[in-house]
Amino acid sequence: MKKILTVFGTRPEAIKMCPLILELKKSAELECIVCLTGQHREMLMQVMNIFKIQYDYNLDIMEQNQSLSRITVNVLNKLGEVLETENPDLILVHGDTSTSFAAALAGFYRGIPVGHVEAGLRTYNMYSPYPEEFNRQAVDLVAQLYFAPTEQSRQNLLKEGKDSDKIYVTGNTVIDALSLTVRADYQNENLDWCSDSRLILLTAHRRENLGEPMKNMFRAIRQVIEEYEDIKVIYPVHKNPKVRQAAQEILSGIDRIRLIEPLDVVDFHNFMARSYIILTDSGGIQEEAPSLGKPVLVMRDTTERPEGIEAGTLKLVGTTEDVIYREIKKLLVEDKAYEAMSNAVNPYGDGHASERIAEAVSKYLL
Ligand code: UD1
Ligand code: UDP
Repeated sequence: MKKILTVFGTRPEAIKMCPLILELKKSAELECIVCLTGQHREMLMQVMNIFKIQYDYNLDIMEQNQSLSRITVNVLNKLGEVLETENPDLILVHGDTSTSFAAALAGFYRGIPVGHVEAGLRTYNMYSPYPEEFNRQAVDLVAQLYFAPTEQSRQNLLKEGKDSDKIYVTGNTVIDALSLTVRADYQNENLDWCSDSRLILLTAHRRENLGEPMKNMFRAIRQVIEEYEDIKVIYPVHKNPKVRQAAQEILSGIDRIRLIEPLDVVDFHNFMARSYIILTDSGGIQEEAPSLGKPVLVMRDTTERPEGIEAGTLKLVGTTEDVIYREIKKLLVEDKAYEAMSNAVNPYGDGHASERIAEAVSKYLL
């Protein structure tokens, strides 16, 4: 029996790792241990509750307004103890968070092989997204197995000299999750509230957007709401106190805007499926929206998800107020522009990524 330790700590990692854990747990020859770092608290537990996965460890590191160094140091120290106890044959980490970076480093320090789920995404700009571009490149420096979601991410890894035998193109496990969550008969009071309007679903949280860029996004949305009466906005506000403060300051007290608590993933995916436009600086949402056929304006300067841009459902609009305002308005008034961005396409997988990853892990370990 070979032992795999999965390590993750934020909402998006959990959404993308839980389908894989369910798959790994089907194998009689693999033992799958789940270690949460607790980089997120409420937002992580929401996902664990939906997938009903028992975890073996929770390092519970979250602090209010935590710094990057505190996250990294706490994961390195506390995960070190778990590695000592469990001595796994493989560590699996996901994506580009500080949890993933520190967990991969902890594995490297102990000579334990690391597998990287969602490997090979790149902007090649260390400051956008920050610190995620560093994290993902650093994880790929030490990884022994790369699970690239797309051919383009495989090409990035090959360009960097990674060994092609270690790279598997699997699709993204987020599409596996999506096939479990979206339901035609889904109902919610917030969706009833906006059934007479076009729904703009908003999320924003990126570290490099805190401050003026995020305020610009919110001001642009306010301008749109003031101008178009058939629009309603729902914004499940991230738990980061800095995000909450800016959202409160600019978007509260407006009739057609609802600021709500973060939604669990079933709710959020169904809200996406009912929305007219999605505005976000998120990574994962850029992968989910194309398969739902929803136009996404990506409020960032760069993206590591060029496949969605090529497919036409994503558009990078930066973080200046007028550009965001103009681009939302264009989608609201120009049917052709809207239709061009609302075709359902699926560049991120067919819903079977977890199976492919589990198979590659078995091949490596057994
Ligand atoms: C983190 C990841 C980012 C990922 C995002 C997903 C890093 C550096 N950043 O950013 O890559 O896109 O998660 O959402 O790894 N908080 C709570 N409760 C929660 C979660 C957060 O109160 O459940 C508050 C805390 O005050 C915390 C703050 O939000 O200190 C920021 O959380 P943090 O994980 O540092 O940053 P995110 O922006 O969430
Ligand atoms: N999501 C969610 N509830 C919300 C907002 C987002 O479950 O209120 C999901 C979303 O469907 C996607 C993931 O969280 O799967 C994206 O997380 P986030 O934007 O926090 O992080 P990123 O993907 O940018 O790292």
